[in-house]
Amino acid sequence: MAQSETPARDAVLVKYLNEAYGKEKQLETALTAQIALAKRPQLKKGLQDHLKVTKAQSKGLAKRMKELGGKADAGPDLPGPDVAGDAVVLVGNVANRALAAAKGPVQALRGTSEADNELRNVRDCLWNEAEEIAHYNVIEAAADALKDRETAKLARTYRRQEESMQKLLERQIAPLMKAVVKEEVPSGERGSSSRRSSSRSASTRSSSSRSSSSRSAASGSSSRRSASSKSTAAKTTGTRTKPKPRKKSS
Ligand SMILES: [Fe+2]
Repeated sequence: MAQSETPARDAVLVKYLNEAYGKEKQLETALTAQIALAKRPQLKKGLQDHLKVTKAQSKGLAKRMKELGGKADAGPDLPGPDVAGDAVVLVGNVANRALAAAKGPVQALRGTSEADNELRNVRDCLWNEAEEIAHYNVIEAAADALKDRETAKLARTYRRQEESMQKLLERQIAPLMKAVVKEEVPSGERGSSSRRSSSRSASTRSSSSRSSSSRSAASGSSSRRSASSKSTAAKTTGTRTKPKPRKKSS
């Protein structure tokens, strides 16, 4: 098909494909940085594998756009959109890039410990995966609506790859959090504290009886709510110094 004959339907598909392409190119950079920072072998390997997948996805998206009469454009620092005829108008990823710059690809030393830093990077990877999944859901819906089976299949395949990475990342959270606790909390403070539990349940009983009388008095006063929240905050931070005796002992 001559490029000048590219119909409007393909322009719609190219628009969404190109936005996903911008995201994938962005992640190629972010994943490379994440790999350098990752300490856990399972995470490092997962990120390395996903970088390969991401590069293949970028290529696949660019190829599909070309077949549809468009051209991949990852951002303002690359050559501008190659407009194929009047019908295809590629949407550049200026906004995508600006967002990436604002979030920062990876911040190497933002955590309070090595494990905390790694955990934060995993959390960032997770929202990136969620964003990619959203892109592929949109592309699949567009392709379904326009009866483009090939693009729908590509979107479905890539979405599943992102979901698989998302699961791998989710599995990292609990062990990483254990490592954070090990690094940041002295061993004597890691278990449950019966003293704090009983204090909390006493305050829960007390505040619950106050709330129910408030509720029965229809909505209650804001000053009481404020006092109650101050009291809760004080208990949470352990700043209450004068516990009132609940009962007289004799
Ligand atoms: Fe991806």
